[in-house]
Amino acid sequence: MEMRIVKFGEGVLKERSKEVESFDESLKKLSSDMLDSMYAANGLGLAGPQVGVLKRIFVIDMRRRSDDSVPCVFSLDGKSIPLDLAMPLVAVNPKIELLGDYVEITEEGCLSFPGIYAEVERAEKVRLNYFDTDGVPHELVCEGLFARCVQHENDHLDGISFVDRLSSAQLFKIAPKLKRLKRQTRDFLKSQKH
Ligand code: NI
Repeated sequence: MEMRIVKFGEGVLKERSKEVESFDESLKKLSSDMLDSMYAANGLGLAGPQVGVLKRIFVIDMRRRSDDSVPCVFSLDGKSIPLDLAMPLVAVNPKIELLGDYVEITEEGCLSFPGIYAEVERAEKVRLNYFDTDGVPHELVCEGLFARCVQHENDHLDGISFVDRLSSAQLFKIAPKLKRLKRQTRDFLKSQKH
């Protein structure tokens, strides 16, 4: 079931999510609803707060990247496996560790900021320890766009959006678009009240 994706200007995007405590049917339902919503919006990733749920869970499907000539470098539980077997990724209560010797600066977007893109600095490699919806622990090590995506979604769980990580020059460039989006969000929320 598709859920409405929260947009910039809604307070829930700035809040810290809580640990998931029970790995029950409702968690599985939430993850499948989040995937439906992400696919419907043509996104690569989606985090709990973006559907108004302040729980530490995010979903990613790297098969949805726009340029599939970009290799997807990762290992799951110490093994390198085909992307199809690893996707979609549903990460519950994730803990991230930034790895690698350098950062990459690449353009990034977010389903909560439709039509807005900016260059964000991210670690080139990360380790993610997380649980699946059955409560089984996993370890993902990934690089490049996959690592960027994991950092972006994990940030959402701490109330951080990609615009919070921009240089002042990048922020200046998108400021008019942000202002417009915030106004649209405010008008939408107002219309919902009647
Ligand atoms: Ni996002």
